[in-house]
Amino acid sequence: MEIEIRPMAEMDLEASAGLEAMCFSTPWSLQAFRESLDKPDIYLFHVAYMENELVAQAGLIMSFDEADVVNVAVKPEYRKQGIAYDLLTELMQTGNARGIKDYTLEVRAGNRAAAALYEKLGFKTEGIRKNFYREPVEDALIMWKRS
Ligand SMILES: CC(C)(COP(=O)(O)OP(=O)(O)OC[C@H]1O[C@@H](n2cnc3c(N)ncnc32)[C@H](O)[C@@H]1OP(=O)(O)O)[C@@H](O)C(=O)NCCC(=O)NCCS
Repeated sequence: MEIEIRPMAEMDLEASAGLEAMCFSTPWSLQAFRESLDKPDIYLFHVAYMENELVAQAGLIMSFDEADVVNVAVKPEYRKQGIAYDLLTELMQTGNARGIKDYTLEVRAGNRAAAALYEKLGFKTEGIRKNFYREPVEDALIMWKRS
């Protein structure tokens, strides 16, 4: 099946909030995504569609030449097909074109699937933030991909 990756837009908001709620214990609301669309200098989100279904999303929060990678989520039935890898590759290419040089993110210490994905994309663990997460409490790995 063909995958289409493009910037998030108003028409995606409902499906994006639904996917977020499916994947995280403290999800962003539809309103939070809507506000991000109003601040394109700071936020850059991409979505991935297969047929007419939103199957994945991920975003950047940008500050000068650095960006935090956030809200990386793929619908459970579409995982392990390379969608997150393709989506993040394209998102960071867009970030690079906007002048982003270094990317960072936090990931739950026990989330092996996500940490392996980020390592495959060139991220390296540079630190641990103790008890960073709630619901459940868990350490965060701080990962960086530097230019
Ligand atoms: C983590 C997540 C985004 C991965 O999405 P995905 O589309 O399945 O990932 P991909 O198919 O692109 O996988 C790319 C690489 O990631 C790693 N990976 C992905 N899923 C994995 C798993 N279940 N176990 C181990 N490694 C995994 C592998 O290295 C894989 O490369 P490979 O296929 O050559 O082995 C997805 O599992 C998800 O949405 N999880 C719930 C939300 C979440 O945890 N988000 C991250 C928060 S920091």
